[in-house]
Amino acid sequence: MIYFDNAATSFVKPQEVCDVVNFAIKNYTANSGRSGHKPAQQTAEIIYNTREIIKKFFNATNYEVVWTKNCTEALNLAIFGTLKSGDHVITTCYEHNSVLRPLQKLKEQGVEVTVLNCDLSKVQDDLAQYVQPNTKMVITTATSNVTGDVCNIKQVGDFCKQNKLIYLIDGAQSSGHIDVNLDDIGADFYAFAGHKGLYSMTGVGGLIIKNETKLKPLLYGGTGTESENLIQPTDIPEGLEAGTLPIIPIISLGAGVEYLRKNFNKIKQLETDLNNFTYKELSKLSFLKLYSNKNAQNVFAFNIADMDSSLVANLLNEEFGICVRAGLHCAPLIHKKMGTIRQGAVRVSLDFFNTCTQINYLIYALKQIYIKYN
Ligand code: ALA
Repeated sequence: MIYFDNAATSFVKPQEVCDVVNFAIKNYTANSGRSGHKPAQQTAEIIYNTREIIKKFFNATNYEVVWTKNCTEALNLAIFGTLKSGDHVITTCYEHNSVLRPLQKLKEQGVEVTVLNCDLSKVQDDLAQYVQPNTKMVITTATSNVTGDVCNIKQVGDFCKQNKLIYLIDGAQSSGHIDVNLDDIGADFYAFAGHKGLYSMTGVGGLIIKNETKLKPLLYGGTGTESENLIQPTDIPEGLEAGTLPIIPIISLGAGVEYLRKNFNKIKQLETDLNNFTYKELSKLSFLKLYSNKNAQNVFAFNIADMDSSLVANLLNEEFGICVRAGLHCAPLIHKKMGTIRQGAVRVSLDFFNTCTQINYLIYALKQIYIKYN
């Protein structure tokens, strides 16, 4: 089996993560931030330490980490917690439905939404012409989950600072793959998933929030603080984290990020080499419509002539044991821009444990499919 679906979730987790999960499930099962006994305190301490690990990894000294169950919840928290009727928000056609659907909902409630159709790498040049007096927020993905295109989040961040706009970055695909320095970018919010490039179990994500940022909660309930008060506490992070936390997934995330931190330069080099090789080899196939460009980060989208993308993905799976994702990847507007809303696209998404030998086998499989079905 060759696994090329890392944008959905990374399949191979570092041994360090597996070991920590095995240890944690036996030793860290008490609830954090509730009872005062020793096991509860130990869990609270490791949860706190993991927040610090995340802050250090994303260079976020002026920020706080709020745990969520995934990146979608983090994005929902930032979007619904910030925007209200009469506000205007600017976003891009590269966004995932985890941004587009909350915005669609808010549109029904009187929020104005502008979707930029330019290339993701050019967003910073287009923003100025769409800013209105009521513009409150800009939302961009850092890396497209369809094409692997990358947004210049530093330049977008600078624009937002100059224009006093709130900037939310969807870091689902970028986290663990590109350097993100939040103190430098100055974004107000950075949402991430644990289970992709940060190698945690599923069940944890987070919203990194700039200190002093005001945000309405998404969930109301027990926080272990101010229990006499029926009104939700406003302290961050607790006020935004009602209910028991996903303790073991959070601990696994800490192990994944520590692994990344120790090996980051090596991993980045492996990924850069693999990206270059993949782009070069896919570009050589004249029957392939390749939608990703040479700067694509770990994600490549293509079609074989006019073949349905799901058929190609099924053939890759059944006849060659290669796992990819087809269809629209929950990001319909970028498919509209690419002209693939009906055909969808085949997506190969890589991680550092993939190899050039595996890419060679993919190229062989694509050639075989083309010969047999065209
Ligand atoms: N958003 C994930 C993907 O792109 C699930 O596959």
